[in-house]
Amino acid sequence: MAQLAAERLIALLDRSERPSICLTGGTSPIRLYQLLGEEPYASRIPWSRVHWFIGDERFVPPNDPLSNMAAARRLLLDDRAPHANIHAVRTAGVTLDEAAQAYEEELQAFHGSDSLDTATPLFDLVLLGLGADGHVASLFPGQQTMTVTDRWVVPVPKAGMEPYVPRISLTFAALASSREILFQIAGAAKKAIAARAMQEADLPAHRVRSQGEIIWMFDKAALPDPAPI
Ligand code: 6PG
Repeated sequence: MAQLAAERLIALLDRSERPSICLTGGTSPIRLYQLLGEEPYASRIPWSRVHWFIGDERFVPPNDPLSNMAAARRLLLDDRAPHANIHAVRTAGVTLDEAAQAYEEELQAFHGSDSLDTATPLFDLVLLGLGADGHVASLFPGQQTMTVTDRWVVPVPKAGMEPYVPRISLTFAALASSREILFQIAGAAKKAIAARAMQEADLPAHRVRSQGEIIWMFDKAALPDPAPI
């Protein structure tokens, strides 16, 4: 699955002069990040042109083991991506609200606009995992953040699942401004929620939209039965 995801990611880097990739946290992308940092993949990435964002971040110090971007940096970005191309959420010396506002402004500055027009999607690729409760990024079931349409980034004071640290999250609107979304879902523990996510409209994973394709990648253990095809 990680190899397939790596091939898809690399294939789309040539479609844009300044590709923007929205990374994800959790365990599902770890193998992908490792692969992309190794040969033969690493040298196929035009590092100077690619910009890296994160779909959600835990509100912890930048080097905290829980930090999503810290994991991506350690496995993939540090020593390869130019510093200016790594767009992390600021979590030190700011409040949660300020962090969300600042990341929204950073996205808008990169996009060159404060509106999400359909002609130019914000992201070339958004990576997502599926939470055990059906959450995506840090948009948790039943939380008011699921209904926000006028923000790109929201503060999430209470996580719906562990680790119970405050988060900041991109909204459905920002995630939808994408040329492609790629879910990676692995392990038997995800099988039941993956099946529910296909059917239950109130689950965040069901609400994900993109201007382009939404690809669900499962390993054999997580694949809903019957398969959703
Ligand atoms: C986070 C994530 C979150 C994650 C899912 C799936 O910060 O926790 O971004 O949305 O993708 O919880 O996590 P796993 O891949 O670990 O199952």
